[in-house]
Amino acid sequence: MSKFQLAIDGPAGAGKSSVSKEVAKRLGLDHIDTGAMYRAVTLQGLRLGIDFKTETDFTYVEDIDIDYKNNSIYLNGECVDKEIRTSLVANNVSVVAKQKIVRDKMVFIQKQIAENSNIVMDGRDIGYNVLPNADLKIFLNASLEIRAKRRLKDIQATGIDIELSELMKQIQERDEKDSTRKINPLKKAEDAIELDTTNMNVEQSVEAIISLTRKRDR
Ligand code: DC
Repeated sequence: MSKFQLAIDGPAGAGKSSVSKEVAKRLGLDHIDTGAMYRAVTLQGLRLGIDFKTETDFTYVEDIDIDYKNNSIYLNGECVDKEIRTSLVANNVSVVAKQKIVRDKMVFIQKQIAENSNIVMDGRDIGYNVLPNADLKIFLNASLEIRAKRRLKDIQATGIDIELSELMKQIQERDEKDSTRKINPLKKAEDAIELDTTNMNVEQSVEAIISLTRKRDR
């Protein structure tokens, strides 16, 4: 495949990470999960003892090194794939992701990675902000209940117990915060194709996207 950039955006639990990872694997593209980057910045804040309910100074982001390679997220050289998936990180990440200082740094890194790569990048602002010239833009969506059920499976697999209703509430709150923030909110790019995966499994979603890439890659 010649140079190709695929942007995948959507709300929490829409299946972006698993679908993007598989699409990238089958098409021989690199995959960047940008949500993992914002989670890693949040994890570092928690490790520094920052109280995100009251903190207004996020300059600590200037001193951290974030990298994403071989499907893993690195915080100051340490692989933190597991540590970024806790409820504590999930419940604080929206505050971190709305800070200009954080977004400027993350978007800069994301653009730099994408510059010389054939890439699938997933997040909230990829199609209209990070990769506005992407060859194909997808907005992945699904009903709140299905998205929460998918997240529940992932969380339960790590041994943590949580009620579906509580998870639905947490996801709804996070989507609300991510869509209404001032800087780079969760938003569908005007030229993105919306794909509702409520009644689709990962395989069906992957096939639908690959078929769309074939139509674009002419
Ligand atoms: O995709 P995720 O749930 O791992 O993302 C974690 C958080 O990061 C999410 O609440 C919104 C934020 N995010 C963002 O603001 N911009 C992105 N490009 C990706 C994620």
